Amino acid sequence: MEIFKVKNQVEGGALAFDLLKKAVDEGAKTLGLATGSTPLEFYKQIRKSDIDLSEITSINLDEYVGLDSENEQSYHYFMTEQLFNHKSLKAHYVPNGMAQDLQEAVKNYDRLIEKHPIDFQILGIGRNGHIGFNEPGTAFSTKTHVVDLDASTIEANARFFEDVSQVPRQAISMGIASIMSAKQIILMAYGSEKADAIYKTVHGPVTEEVPATVLQNHDNVVLIIDEAAASKLD
Ligand code: GLP
Repeated sequence: MEIFKVKNQVEGGALAFDLLKKAVDEGAKTLGLATGSTPLEFYKQIRKSDIDLSEITSINLDEYVGLDSENEQSYHYFMTEQLFNHKSLKAHYVPNGMAQDLQEAVKNYDRLIEKHPIDFQILGIGRNGHIGFNEPGTAFSTKTHVVDLDASTIEANARFFEDVSQVPRQAISMGIASIMSAKQIILMAYGSEKADAIYKTVHGPVTEEVPATVLQNHDNVVLIIDEAAASKLD
């Protein structure tokens, strides 16, 4: 695991963007993308740049069950605002949280990932160490699946909704195995509320109780963290 400490999210987003450019220059064709506040500066850098993504396919990590792409709290809407409206990609995919048959949607998403192996995966991290929406206790062998969100995740994500009762209780998420199949993984984390999860990701025992610890088993992971997120590291 390579660790870069940055001053703030702006510097972190710029660094992640540099890594993206390098990956694209070296032939990356498929990006795994994340939502949340963490990658906002990364998307800003992409929007500001003249990077050509017209031959690139993107596959998002996760989506809430029950929110459609027009819903401002959906991850699809977030991606449209942050990226899809600004850069044209060859194709972009977000799990369909409105699917009639969620199990079928999940299987189709795995087929999609098999067809487009992910070269460059962006990740944030939850306070409990979740990646995507893979909550503590998720088997490392899991592929795309329907998730019951942890109470702590619902509470943490309530800031984007009018009140906590509106936060969906379920999501579709790429699984840990899907994430681990990416060639390169860039995990960003900012702020003291992520310090514990970052400590465990780097130094903790590899355990399904802290999903991000699985990254210790991957040979191409870059961590981009600020001082506060790094504060518990040795
Ligand atoms: C959410 C998302 C994750 C994200 C994490 C952190 O629950 N499903 O993909 O990485 O929480 O979010 P934030 O970046 O807003 O702190």
